[in-house]
Amino acid sequence: MVNPLPVILTDSLGAVVDTVLDRSVVLGYTKIGSRLRGLWWPADPAPDAMAGKRVVVTGATAGIGAAMAASFARLGATVHLLGRDPGRVARSAATVRAGVAGADVVEEVCDVADLAAVRSWTASLSARVDALDGLVHNAGVMPKQRAETAQGHEVQLACHVLGPHLMTDTLSGLLRAADESAVVFMSSGGMYSAPVKHWTLDELESRDGPYNGVRVYARTKRMQVLLADAWANRLSDSGIRVYSTHPGWVETPGVAEALPVFRRVTRPLLRDAADGADTAVWLVATRPESGPGHFWHDRAQRPTTFGWERGVDPQRAAAFLDEVSALALRSTVE
Ligand SMILES: NC(=O)c1ccc[n+]([C@@H]2O[C@H](COP(=O)([O-])OP(=O)(O)OC[C@H]3O[C@@H](n4cnc5c(N)ncnc54)[C@H](OP(=O)(O)O)[C@@H]3O)[C@@H](O)[C@H]2O)c1
Repeated sequence: MVNPLPVILTDSLGAVVDTVLDRSVVLGYTKIGSRLRGLWWPADPAPDAMAGKRVVVTGATAGIGAAMAASFARLGATVHLLGRDPGRVARSAATVRAGVAGADVVEEVCDVADLAAVRSWTASLSARVDALDGLVHNAGVMPKQRAETAQGHEVQLACHVLGPHLMTDTLSGLLRAADESAVVFMSSGGMYSAPVKHWTLDELESRDGPYNGVRVYARTKRMQVLLADAWANRLSDSGIRVYSTHPGWVETPGVAEALPVFRRVTRPLLRDAADGADTAVWLVATRPESGPGHFWHDRAQRPTTFGWERGVDPQRAAAFLDEVSALALRSTVE
């Protein structure tokens, strides 16, 4: 959507309203937030912004990821649509091809939470393509019971943190080869409820008490923000920009399954999946300059902490990246 309001509103009143929406949570995270901000937020990418470019979207068989795949295809990208189930990948790819004329969709099967599968899939992709312009870590889960992956990691840690980390690392050569590329971690506003700390191994693996899927979700979504920040710093001298984002509250199969009561109460105000995908697509297509934190929502950078908490210490973020690297490496190279 092109900004229809005068620049003065964009710069002053817009900024105030935007902050009020953000801090109010309910207004900002629902479709009220995107409808209002759409009046002043930065312009859409050009219709052919991704022509000749290649992007990977994980968790693209449903919800926000499926909508994101269609949005990238509409902008002209070759979309590597990734999911863990071949049948669901084929169905989602067929939907994108049916909905977007000329869509170039490559079906990719990989369980992001299985680190051995991530290693073998990234090796396969590296043998098939020369460069990668965009990588969106969108796959997400919120199980009620604690479960472990093939490598013995708690599932949310593996799906939200370890797998995306390993994928970023092993695809960094392809991302560098594109000259100007972008990596996006799809976090959640729920991450604000989980402060940054030095997590013990038991906390990382959710062995620190009775399992609470919502609490672990918030914690691993916080870890994604920290990880994106650390990767952004580590790659700052390359052409790769790294961001995290949150989509707001979005009507998806995942929300229906994991949070049925929340969905029933908020349903009239939930965003649709394309709205939830908007900022991730916009980040990859436009690669905006980004400052410390690198956390975005509705096409604007947002604070990574609220209130009395200070912003995240970059040294803590760098140390966390090292811890995650060691954990991921230990499980796949033995
Ligand atoms: N919806 C919201 O309001 C909301 C709010 C904040 C953040 N988010 C984040 O946005 C992202 C998408 O959420 P959504 O609501 O669209 O969820 P969804 O409807 O549950 O879709 C999740 C997608 O991730 C895939 N997936 C899960 N585990 C995977 C794995 N191990 N390997 C590969 N793919 C896997 C699922 O594949 P299957 O089809 O195989 O299950 C599905 O395609 C998530 O990261 C979520 O945390 C969503």
